[in-house]
Amino acid sequence: MSSRPTEAVSLPTRVGRESGLIPEIRSPNRTTEPGEPGHYNRGMSYTALARRYRSTGFDDIVGQEPVARTLKAAIEADRVAHAYLFTGTRGVGKTTMARVFAKALNSSGSAEVDQAIMTGQDTDVIEIDGASNNSVDDARELIAGSVYRPMRGPYKIYIIDEVHMLSTAAFNALLKTMEEPPEHVKFILCTTEAQKVPPTIQSRCQRFDFRAIPMSVIADRLAYVVKNEKLKAEPELLSMVARLGNGSMRDALSIMDRLMASGEKSLTVELLEGLMGLAPRELVGRLINAFADGEPKPALDSAAELLATGTGPDQLLETLIERLRDLMVLCACGPETSLVELTGDTRKEEIERAQRFDAAGLVHMIALCESVQRATRSSPNPRALLDALVVRLAMTEKLADVTTLVRQLEGAGAGKG
Ligand SMILES: Nc1ncnc2c1ncn2[C@@H]1O[C@H](COP(=O)(O)OP(=O)(O)O)[C@@H](O)[C@H]1O
Ligand SMILES: [Mg+2]
Repeated sequence: MSSRPTEAVSLPTRVGRESGLIPEIRSPNRTTEPGEPGHYNRGMSYTALARRYRSTGFDDIVGQEPVARTLKAAIEADRVAHAYLFTGTRGVGKTTMARVFAKALNSSGSAEVDQAIMTGQDTDVIEIDGASNNSVDDARELIAGSVYRPMRGPYKIYIIDEVHMLSTAAFNALLKTMEEPPEHVKFILCTTEAQKVPPTIQSRCQRFDFRAIPMSVIADRLAYVVKNEKLKAEPELLSMVARLGNGSMRDALSIMDRLMASGEKSLTVELLEGLMGLAPRELVGRLINAFADGEPKPALDSAAELLATGTGPDQLLETLIERLRDLMVLCACGPETSLVELTGDTRKEEIERAQRFDAAGLVHMIALCESVQRATRSSPNPRALLDALVVRLAMTEKLADVTTLVRQLEGAGAGKG
């Protein structure tokens, strides 16, 4: 049985896509963020990586090059719109881009001003959390303040985060100002849910869609962070964390935070698996091998071993589906495919494993897993369903053989007749 490292912090057992369990590390007051350079940490000994590695320039925001390019060009051509809407999932660089853009617009050459902007503490670049300042009074206060000229830069720039949280009345109050703002006012609205921003507001903004950051781009950034922190990490670990980040740099960095909280100087896949309650990859590999071998007994043993590590049936099924999916894509598209986000030795291993299956068989296996996954949710005995599935999967290859045989026989018959 694999031993798991003791957990330093309490952790969700599932992360990514549907769980959204990775909490944002955020201070209650958005304008003073602990850990920003120049901000002292009251009693906090550790500063989150997402804060320490906040990009400070356009070229430092990875994966959003098209947005950066367009904004830079707008400044150069002196064609800056008066309102922008930045949309995209969380942790992809919207707020950072807003600050960098504001810094470029109000460029003063003063390091002090630049830093104030980048930490959200500048007097002319005003950051507002739309979630907690969503009333019509908040909007009126903003409008009243906007008539006063900026103190040190050319523009007064309002960055409204989570803008979709504003009340309808607040949006209505803002509408007129956004249509014809004073010369010196710019708006940058950020949101994860653009569809909740009224069309009247949207139509007054130049919109930019921030894309989910590709896994390899996140992995590269993590490698840079690890090196900078004078730590070591297995390349496969970085790929895994990048994958768990699911397009969000902040989520990936917050997983790194937890890994680093272990105090280990060398970060391993095993550490991550223990920390996040992930099914050990190697063990799942053994289970899938047993399917390929068509051996129910070792398959059942591997499944039991996996459950004994603390992996729940539901999580095991999800992991299985993910792994079988990778194999299926490798079968269907060949070893070079970019549709499978695996690197290094892990990739080699899976390419070899894929040779033991065919795409059609894997499609069938995934479908079986999926139907059992649904059934286990309402079953009083998920373990029995899981075991039955495991046995069945260990027999599919044989079933596939039978199918092939039948087809060959039929073919031979047809040839004769
Ligand atoms: N595209 C990116 N490139 C580099 N770092 C990023 C990027 N996106 C997010 N980050 C990291 O995540 C942190 C939070 O990003 P943020 O700009 O607040 O994201 P958003 O506003 O989209 O939720 C940043 O401080 C930075 O460390
Ligand atoms: Mg943000």
